[in-house]
Amino acid sequence: MKTFFKTQILDDAHDTAACLATDLIRYCSEQMIFHENIYIALSGGSTPQILFSIIAADYSKALDWKRIHFFWVDERCVPFTSVESNFGVADRLLFSKIDIPEKNLHPIRGADDSLKEVVRYTDEILMHVPSVYKYPVFDVVILGMGNDRHTASIFPGQNYLFDTSSICSVSYHPQSGQKRITLTGNVINNAQEVVFLITGSAKAQQIKSIFEDSPEADDSPAKHIHPAHGGLSWYLDWDAAIYINGKI
Ligand code: 6PG
Repeated sequence: MKTFFKTQILDDAHDTAACLATDLIRYCSEQMIFHENIYIALSGGSTPQILFSIIAADYSKALDWKRIHFFWVDERCVPFTSVESNFGVADRLLFSKIDIPEKNLHPIRGADDSLKEVVRYTDEILMHVPSVYKYPVFDVVILGMGNDRHTASIFPGQNYLFDTSSICSVSYHPQSGQKRITLTGNVINNAQEVVFLITGSAKAQQIKSIFEDSPEADDSPAKHIHPAHGGLSWYLDWDAAIYINGKI
């Protein structure tokens, strides 16, 4: 399988995000030779914030942003103005700083009725993102992994979200009960390129278990990310990769 992105281990969180930013911009530039539009699904949480800031600072003029469409892997069911809103954070750090039309931004409307929003967002994805059979094929899906091992908003114990034929689903944070909307496992695994961006020592043990295919990682959603006809790459810093040093 020829993939554009490659697993990388960088010195620290900044260098890891900077490396992914460079690769993402190069990927989009190359793909734009062949495709009119590029479809990217972003994650939230704290880790991609550096990525957003670096793209805004260093690459604001590097692409014709009119040809890039951004969707979200998941969203917390909160208004865009909330500090917890994945769209709100990306908007503040990146979209307000680049020349991208509003119609290219496809946030999940976290404040709306969640079941209706799942239907609306599914339609919005299918209306824009090319599909193979009935699943959309995003060009790039950027994922993270929480300290509690969730990825997208699929939490440990919710691996049924890899078996459903739905495109989006409501999910719940098992501890806080916070409602989320997430892309399902089949949609993520249908992407051309899936990239994990993970930094920090708090994730090191989980990364070890996933890379060693250890049974203790079986309920870690990240272990079930295997793109069906695309690439999987990990952008890690040394703190996150400490136990897999030399094994990749
Ligand atoms: C979310 C995210 C989620 C994220 C992890 C990592 O909204 O919760 O999209 O899947 O990737 O929680 O979060 P941190 O970067 O904050 O560790």
